Amino acid sequence: MALGLLLVRLLMVAAVVAGGLPRRADAGGLAVGFYNKSCPQAEDLALAEMRDIVEKDKTLAPALLRFMFHDCFVRGCDGSIMLVSRNGTGERDALPSHGLRGYGEIERIKAKLEQACPLTVSCADIIVMAARDAVYLSDGPRYAVETGRRDGKVSAAFDANNDVPPPSSNIVDLKTYFSVKSLGWKDLVVLSGSHTIGWTQCSTFAGDRLYNYSGRGVQDPSLNKKYAADLRQACEAGVPDDETVVAMDPVSPYTFDLAYYHDVYNDTGLFLSDQALLDDQWTREYVAQMAAAASPDEYFRDYAVAMTNMGRIEVLTGDSGEIRKVCGAYVD
Ligand code: HEM
Repeated sequence: MALGLLLVRLLMVAAVVAGGLPRRADAGGLAVGFYNKSCPQAEDLALAEMRDIVEKDKTLAPALLRFMFHDCFVRGCDGSIMLVSRNGTGERDALPSHGLRGYGEIERIKAKLEQACPLTVSCADIIVMAARDAVYLSDGPRYAVETGRRDGKVSAAFDANNDVPPPSSNIVDLKTYFSVKSLGWKDLVVLSGSHTIGWTQCSTFAGDRLYNYSGRGVQDPSLNKKYAADLRQACEAGVPDDETVVAMDPVSPYTFDLAYYHDVYNDTGLFLSDQALLDDQWTREYVAQMAAAASPDEYFRDYAVAMTNMGRIEVLTGDSGEIRKVCGAYVD
């Protein structure tokens, strides 16, 4: 084999071992402490609001963590998930946004920051800070967030339908959805661990996993039998149930811990997309390693890196985009 080709192959293997595919090494105009001069109290004020929000309703912590995923995967982390389409064709109206909560809470934090520092802190950054604080307030790590994003002005349901992976995704689909956003297998397996907190509706998974796996009218054979029996009790067959919710990690749904990896490793991950992490050598090894880990420290470090990577997706910085007064502005 020619030396050049060998070198390329070695580099590719190194990239896979390191967690995937080409990533931008720089923060693309973002910086930790971007508001240190213009609004030094921004992060403290946001945390204080989040504390109050989560104290009143603990289910809003997972909701606001998921919110960042949906903002960042659709046209980048630009706050466009907040925009309201007059004709019902915005990101909010798309199928993947179904069940998304947190719009009012992001607006509430924005109002607080507008009082303190008018037209300074973007909605996109508030979403990223709220997700970080949601993890922290669920006993997870508190990592430093990069800020300096500006807000986009476009919101299209089409983009959300295209770019948010559905829970029925297999491992090839998942890796593709992530690599399109410059995220690798490690980001995928680490960020999927966010499903260690939160709830979902029966309608999201009951078909795929309990009653009509692969369109064959049967239960998913890879799902743990005892767990499946419990889920069948909660989610009745043949009822398109948007009302009943089940915890995605039944052991500790309010605590950001390693339980997700125990669940997935023991075939009690809820979605096909969770179970699918066992179908790839690298993600499977990571699941096994975290399921056996005595402490969450390494996972928490990995999580901070992966969230930072997700927070860099297609950001608007410098003179691009805008800083809005209200996040949920109307667009056509
Ligand atoms: C890997 C691909 C992913 C898929 C297919 C996926 C899919 C889903 C689905 C279908 C729900 C349930 C929504 C509902 O029933 O209302 C959900 C909930 C959730 N997702 Fe994901 N997700 C993925 C990645 C992520 C990422 C990257 C994060 C955060 C960084 C995340 C955080 C959450 C959280 C915290 C919840 C619970 C929300 C709540 O309790 O309100 N997910 N996810």
